[in-house]
Amino acid sequence: MPNVEATLSPTSGSCEERRPDGCGIIIFGASGDLVYRKLLPALYHLYARNLMPEKFYILGFARTDMTDDAFRERAREALVDAHEPDAPETVTKFLSKCMYVSGDYKDPAAYKRLQTKAATCDCDFSEKENKLFYLALPPQLHPSVVSRLSECGLTAEGENASPWARVVFEKPFGHDLNSALELDKHLSSMLDPSQIFRIDHYLGKETVQSILMLRFANIMFEPLWSQRYIDNIQITVAESVGVEHRGGYYESAGCLRDMFQNHMLQMLSLVTMEPPTRFEAEFVQAERVKLLRAIRPWSERTLKDNIVRGQYAAGTVHNEKAVGYHDEANIAKDSATETFVGMKLYIDNWRWQGVPIYMRSGKRLHMRESEVAVTFKRVPHSMFGFASQHEMPANILVMKIQPNEGVDLTIHTKQPGPKTCMASLSLSFKYEEVFGITPPDAYERLLLDCMLGDRTLFLSRKGVEAAWTIVDPILNFWRDHPDKAPLHSYEAGSWGPQASDDLLLRSGHQWR
Ligand code: NDP
Ligand code: BG6
Repeated sequence: MPNVEATLSPTSGSCEERRPDGCGIIIFGASGDLVYRKLLPALYHLYARNLMPEKFYILGFARTDMTDDAFRERAREALVDAHEPDAPETVTKFLSKCMYVSGDYKDPAAYKRLQTKAATCDCDFSEKENKLFYLALPPQLHPSVVSRLSECGLTAEGENASPWARVVFEKPFGHDLNSALELDKHLSSMLDPSQIFRIDHYLGKETVQSILMLRFANIMFEPLWSQRYIDNIQITVAESVGVEHRGGYYESAGCLRDMFQNHMLQMLSLVTMEPPTRFEAEFVQAERVKLLRAIRPWSERTLKDNIVRGQYAAGTVHNEKAVGYHDEANIAKDSATETFVGMKLYIDNWRWQGVPIYMRSGKRLHMRESEVAVTFKRVPHSMFGFASQHEMPANILVMKIQPNEGVDLTIHTKQPGPKTCMASLSLSFKYEEVFGITPPDAYERLLLDCMLGDRTLFLSRKGVEAAWTIVDPILNFWRDHPDKAPLHSYEAGSWGPQASDDLLLRSGHQWR
């Protein structure tokens, strides 16, 4: 295994970690899964790293009846489950900042109670404080919550947004293009665009962000980064888990809406977009949108031939029996919801003309593994004993998103000895080994950016619309022509349906 040493440049850009100004963080859906598994641990971690504001409070809101103490106990359990380091004093101080109000999301009186509670939080805040509202709620509740907040004046900002009021929206943003447009219309009647933060947590992942740095901070990749030298690109987000307790949501979403409309297309845009002039929200978002708009529109033929949908049947994952999708909780026995999607698409611009892009994602696959693999074209002429250059192995650059975050580059070299014998080897580094830390959770970075008002890693309205424009025709085709888009069954623990392998084989490729 080659050894890589990281020499960290002290002058390297914006390394300085900033602490946000004081704010109240009000979380809707505070009794839910996302808050427990992700948000509370991320907020605590920021606190332990001294990156929370000097003055802040966390006010949970949901229908479930809970006292402040019960909410704190739940938060404590969330930290234990997230394996936060044992630092009892820091945990106690953090928990003392957590409060809770229960009420119905549509009831104006509940918002009055929320307002009163916020005012009594013992953080020396007046009504002038900054407020971050986080909607960790099923999306159908987003419009009502924003309406109530706006009616109570809670989203009103001061002059020049001081104090500020920001609202964070969890995905999905709408159910299709029309509902996304409608949601936007509703939100923009009550909020200024600068107050809206649309989260795609993949953009907060360290390794997803580092795609841009790898591309644009190293001169050696960019000249090769086009149809001239790249043969194909593969993006895989494989999960070994099933739908778990989220059957109710997943049944009406499916893999295409759950993973492609957001995470997969955002990763694709980072890998293939043009260099932004600056690493600032406006510039980065514009390039991402431009790329999504360049994706070749689907035709009836490509909808039929270039997209595979599948659903898991019973099988074995990590040596344990797994039930099929139909036998999961809250799933209809005859459900036709897809839990796997594989697709081939093209980008119609000068850089990417003719390069196939393969993407796949699914639940209950063989293992949890997400990566972007860029396979370069072969050398034009073989001198080293191969019958033709087509026999030569290709160079492959793999950006490993998770787990084992890192980068692998396959190159070819001479094997030691008297013969001209070639060997392929991998130059690789793992973040954890080189930097000595596990990359922080995506939510940590995104929550910090919301408080700092940095929108670079958030989605723009146009970005969401561009993504729906790609996904909508597929959903419509599946609805209108189920006979032309069969739902393939695959065994839990496999790599998805055979049809997904065949999709690549037809073009002379295979999944990595
Ligand atoms: P949950 O299903 O856990 O819902 C959160 C809370 O919302 C619940 O605790 C419940 O609180 C309330 N709630 C749920 N359903 C309803 C309903 N029909 N009517 C009124 N209130 C309801 O969701 P998650 O925490 O999993 O997700 C929240 C948001 O984050 C969703 O938009 C999801 O898509 C998104 N997300 C979640 C991820 C995850 O890993 N969980 C990952 C990425 C995004 P109460 O009954 O107490 O009011
Ligand atoms: C969420 C999806 O957005 O992303 C889930 O709703 C999926 O279905 C999850 O499991 C994957 O995120 P991660 O960070 O675990 O790869």
